[in-house]
Amino acid sequence: MPTNTPRIGTSCVRPDFHDQFAVSTNSIAKILGASDEINDLTVQGWVRTRRDSKDFSFLEINDGSCLASLQIVVTRECQGWNHVKDITCGASVTVTGKLLESPAAGQAWELHAMQLDIIGVADADYPLQKKRHTLEFLREIGHLRSRTNLLGSVFRLRSRLSFAVHDFFQSRGFHYVHTPIVTTSDCEGAGELFRLTTPGIDSEEEFFGRPAFLTVSGQLEAETLACSMSKVYTFGPTFRADPSNTSRHVSEFWMIEPEMAFCDLVQDMDVAEEFIKAMVTFVLEDREEDLAFFNKFVDKELLARLQAVQDVEFKRISFTDAVGILEKSGRKFEHPVGLTIALQSEHERFLTEEYFKCPVTVFDYPKEIKPFYMRLNEDGRTVAAMDVLVPGIGEIVGGSQREERYDQLLKNMERCGLAHEGHEWYSDLRRYGTVPHAGFGLGFERLIMYLTGVSNIRDVIPFPRTPGHASF
Ligand code: 4AD
Ligand code: MG
Repeated sequence: MPTNTPRIGTSCVRPDFHDQFAVSTNSIAKILGASDEINDLTVQGWVRTRRDSKDFSFLEINDGSCLASLQIVVTRECQGWNHVKDITCGASVTVTGKLLESPAAGQAWELHAMQLDIIGVADADYPLQKKRHTLEFLREIGHLRSRTNLLGSVFRLRSRLSFAVHDFFQSRGFHYVHTPIVTTSDCEGAGELFRLTTPGIDSEEEFFGRPAFLTVSGQLEAETLACSMSKVYTFGPTFRADPSNTSRHVSEFWMIEPEMAFCDLVQDMDVAEEFIKAMVTFVLEDREEDLAFFNKFVDKELLARLQAVQDVEFKRISFTDAVGILEKSGRKFEHPVGLTIALQSEHERFLTEEYFKCPVTVFDYPKEIKPFYMRLNEDGRTVAAMDVLVPGIGEIVGGSQREERYDQLLKNMERCGLAHEGHEWYSDLRRYGTVPHAGFGLGFERLIMYLTGVSNIRDVIPFPRTPGHASF
């Protein structure tokens, strides 16, 4: 990375960040990093626990700024002592007091309250009273689950990682482009589109004059921008009406899609691998506390695995070689393996978890199983496609070099049963200064699963949408 660009890491947050907002008093993250005692400090948050003895009470409060909670010591001298018994788990409070060194193990500071105000009491049926809940139960209370340690850590990481995604591309001269969510084309050709309808309007009078859908990928539109701005990326929501109800699929997910002009498949793979490694390095530096938590409670191998991946070279093999390995493995797979059959998750995971034991980039897939836009290779049999597979997940990236030859593109469309009509804007790019170009899509939720060890995609997005589930 060039030296004149900001390093990805904690230094990207302005040190005075929390002081910029009059509404915010002090975040617990900032308070816990204090270097000295503070005489008069106000803090606000939600109560995790209350413990009482005759002359004082301890409150643990958390404001979501970090994993740790702040211990509040409330004595009879405190204004508000009289209502301390009304403060139950889940209540919101404002506390002003003195920040003093804590004699208790495991915490540097505690706040000795001089003034304690209840902002909102919590009803007795507050569902997060118990320390541990199953993830399934927490999914049923999607409006409250971000108050738990696990989901709080995941969503903080998600926020910081979004920032790191932008930083990665911006510092390399990519432009962030906004591609439409409403589209009329099926980029992947898999027919997994959600169709838009307007109540009361019949199909002859379509709102957009023709059938319109939620996008499955911003790629086709991103290609038009790459063919003028050279290096672009999208980072936005995409939608798939895929009935697969697995731990790795959601119907609405966020995808990062870089698209680069004057770029071939090898350079595309280079960028994808460098990007994944940069994201690993970023979380290791920036999310130390949250990662330690995941390592302890979610996946005991997480830190070791992430640290190792920073230095490892991703294995690269052709699809044909991958099939050879699977066929010779002696393993009984549920789904068939063959030179024109798509790899299933069980095959991908065998390659990355058991055979190579590291991330693997598979390239040059058979044309029969890939969309029209991929560049036909010289062999006439395969296309310049690539997928990055990682342990624990399987496919995390799907990309390709795009077909930049006008005549060949039209043949590809015909082969895939796609009408040219309506896609002239796409083929035009091949008539006016065409260039080799390539790009990929990385599923943001799958990346978060990889970086946290969380094994169900429903637990890395605040409001998961899956077949049959679109509320919490
Ligand atoms: O492999 P996919 O379908 O590729 C594309 O959409 C290309 N147009 C991308 C491009 O070249 N610009 O999807 C890309 C990635 C997958 O590798 C996976 O990480 C993620 O998107 N993904 C999903 N994530 C969660 N739930 C789903 N249902 C997903 N489908 C794909
Ligand atoms: Mg794919």
